[in-house]
Amino acid sequence: MNILVINGSPMEKSRTRGIAKLVKELLEEQGVMVTYYDLGIEKLPLFPGDEENAPLRKLYKGAQEADGFFIASPEYHNGMSGVLKNALDFLGGTYFKHKPAAIAAASGGSKGGINALNNMRTVLRGLYAVVLPDQYVSNPECYDENYDLVDRESVERLQVIAGLLVELTEKLGIKQEQDVR
Ligand SMILES: Cc1cc2nc3c(=O)[nH]c(=O)nc-3n(C[C@H](O)[C@H](O)[C@H](O)COP(=O)(O)O)c2cc1C
Repeated sequence: MNILVINGSPMEKSRTRGIAKLVKELLEEQGVMVTYYDLGIEKLPLFPGDEENAPLRKLYKGAQEADGFFIASPEYHNGMSGVLKNALDFLGGTYFKHKPAAIAAASGGSKGGINALNNMRTVLRGLYAVVLPDQYVSNPECYDENYDLVDRESVERLQVIAGLLVELTEKLGIKQEQDVR
């Protein structure tokens, strides 16, 4: 099983990366092969951009090989980040159709984050992904000074979500194999 984990923050120092890195480790502990893609490191052109762009080719390959997705975004002005939406526009539905996706958001606090999550859910539905009902949102207090996600309840919650993602990916993967036969 291969899961593509995407950090959807464009920032050099990023709390969303703290979520994505933790989930990468949690999935690997379960024996999952993880491809990690970081939109703060891989600088994509704006859609529709040069398809020979190296970060873009890496994204296509990761999504092509993925059986499921974990996607984390910062909440920016009540939505997902622009770089994440741009990346999803490049990918389109063929990469996501009937594959599971788990979502998480980093908010600025004050009970933020839900709008970014709802926005991701709406867009991923447009891409025909099967989005898990369970989701996670952080506030800045959940992190240490290195932007690592250290809050115990958050780690436990993400353990549950990573487990559910693996379970659904196994089930849908088996179904897709049966459909091919
Ligand atoms: C342009 C911009 C818009 C933001 N809008 C919101 C918002 O609408 N709601 C919120 O809770 N936080 C908002 N924030 C705060 C970020 O969600 C918060 O700092 C989060 O940690 C960013 O994730 P990152 O560190 O991975 O980039 C905004 C931050 C920026 C830079």
